This record gives sequence, structure tokens and C-alpha cells, in this order.
Amino acid sequence: MCKHADNPESRPALERVRVVGNERIAPGVGILTLQAPRCASEVSPGQFVHLRVAEGRDFILRRPFSVHRAYDGMIEILYQVLGVGTRAISLLEREQTLDLVGPLGRGWSAPEGLAHALIVTGGLGAAPLGMLAEELAAAGVAVTVAMGAPTQERLVARGLYETVVRRVVLATDDGSAGERGFVTAPVKRLLAESTFDQMYVCGPEVMQRLVADMAKEANVPCQVSLERLMACGIGACLSCVVSTRDGLKRACVDGPVFDAEDVLWDSSEVPPKH
Ligand SMILES: Cc1cc2nc3c(=O)[nH]c(=O)nc-3n(C[C@H](O)[C@H](O)[C@H](O)COP(=O)(O)OP(=O)(O)OC[C@H]3O[C@@H](n4cnc5c(N)ncnc54)[C@H](O)[C@@H]3O)c2cc1C
Ligand code: FES
Repeated sequence: MCKHADNPESRPALERVRVVGNERIAPGVGILTLQAPRCASEVSPGQFVHLRVAEGRDFILRRPFSVHRAYDGMIEILYQVLGVGTRAISLLEREQTLDLVGPLGRGWSAPEGLAHALIVTGGLGAAPLGMLAEELAAAGVAVTVAMGAPTQERLVARGLYETVVRRVVLATDDGSAGERGFVTAPVKRLLAESTFDQMYVCGPEVMQRLVADMAKEANVPCQVSLERLMACGIGACLSCVVSTRDGLKRACVDGPVFDAEDVLWDSSEVPPKH
């Protein structure tokens, strides 16, 4: 379960992949399904791929995307249209091909004997946690998911979580699904009501930090997935640094998943010099 990316069996490679589906699931949000047999067989939850989305000047830099799910030689990418690259992804059609480097980075890890996990997602933060929820549930771990989003239609991947895990708790800013407000409120309640041995969090960094503080207070180990601008994706350019208690780390190779306790969240916090 959740083999780590530094497992020698999981080596990134360049792969020519084919689009087998591109479905719009909410305004500006879609699921891209790629036939990517090598990546699908190597990837572990929380890892990402670097996509050359199209040809031309705007696409010289690859775009990083988490692998949302992997099955039968396919990978799914849950994407939100933000700029020129993600707009180009939204226009990809079946049978088009593109190239991918991956799987990349260090993903989520599960402690020995994990019995009850709490997954917390905010908006598109649901993307890197889908495969983890499936693997944990398949391994018999009781999984609770707390999902937050601005509106009901932005609770992306809700259907997947409701299908595979034991309990899903929802919060939306406008109250259109679940309780009104931020996901931090139900997380606080869940931590008071139940015992968890591991938390996994992805979403806006301010939310990740708040949830990490709650985890610390409740004495529950917590992993977070941090998003940084990534130019090379393979550890060479230092565009993706994260300040940690152990110095500056590269999110593309040392992360994107980090132990929350190691992250120095304030930019004023200076990592130790080595
Ligand atoms: C490890 C990782 C996993 C990610 N997973 C997902 C995912 O599953 N789904 C999803 O929708 N988005 C994900 N993102 C964010 C996604 O990479 C950016 O939204 C995307 O690169 C924006 O490209 P663009 O051309 O549309 O935007 P533009 O703003 O036009 O991009 C211009 C340049 O900035 C870079 N860039 C812009 N925003 C980001 C960003 N937030 N992170 C990294 N590079 C950025 C682009 O790669 C490009 O080189 C992830 C980012 C990282 C670092
Ligand atoms: S993206 Fe180049 S070092 Fe991380």
C-alpha cells in the first residue's frame, strides 16, 4: 500500500500518451483520462506527472498535475482551467497524443497498522487524494473524508469519495451542500469525536496550515501536499523550494507531500543553514 516514490521500482520516464476521455465535470473543471500504461503501473498516490500540453512557445515548460486515479493502464487528471496550458488541456480530444514525464515526486505514505485515516480536501485539493482513498479503503483502512468547496458543484470528485470510503462530510461556503462555512469546522468536530492515526490534507495553503495546527493539537500525524511553481520537475532548477525544519527542500523531488510538522509555513521562518 502506498509505495513511496523513492522506491527503485518507481522511476520517472518520458511516455507518449493518448487521450481517451476529457469530460467537463463543473464550470472550468474537467477530468482528462490518458492511456499511459507505464505511468499507471508505476505511480503511487500523491505523485504527479509533468505534461507537455501542446506545441509552441507557450508550452515550452511542462505543467505539473497530480495523478487523481490510475487503473487498467489509464491515469486520470482532475484539472481546473486557469491559464493557457490548462485551457489547452480542456480542448484536448480523444485520440490526440501528448507526452508526459512521470511519475514524479514523493507521494503520501501510510504508517504500519493504519486503522483510521482522515482525508481533508479543499476544492481542487481533492485531485491528489483520490487514488490514496481508493488504496486505503481497498486495504481495509477506515477512511473519513472531509471535503470543502465554495459551492456544491465545486465539490469535485465527491462521487468517487462517496463510493469508496466509509464516511464523507461536506462543507460549502454558500451552504449548498453539507454545512455552511469552511471545512475546518467539521474537521475540528471530527477530531474531537473520533480517533485517527493519520491525516492527509490538500487544498489552499491557508487551509492546510490551519488543519495541520489542529492535527498537531490533537496529536495526529499529518501529511500535506504543497503546490509550487515547477519549471523542471526533476530537482534541477530550484523554482519549487519549500522551507522546512531540515532546510530548503524541492517540492518536485522531496515533495510535493511533506510531514506537516516539518514545514515552516511563515515566510519569516528561516530554515536552518547546513
Ligand atoms: C505538484 C503539483 C500538482 C498539481 N496538480 C494539479 C491538479 O491535479 N489539478 C490542477 O488543476 N492543477 C494542479 N496543479 C497546478 C497546475 O500545475 C497549474 O494550475 C498549471 O500549471 C497552470 O498552467 P496554465 O498554463 O493553465 O496557467 P498559467 O498561469 O498560464 O501558467 C504559466 C506558467 O506557470 C506555471 N504555473 C502556473 N500556476 C502554477 C501552479 N499553481 N503550480 C505549478 N505551476 C504553475 C505553469 O506550469 C506555466 O509554466 C499542480 C501543481 C503542482 C506543483
Ligand atoms: S521544479 Fe525544478 S527543482 Fe523543482
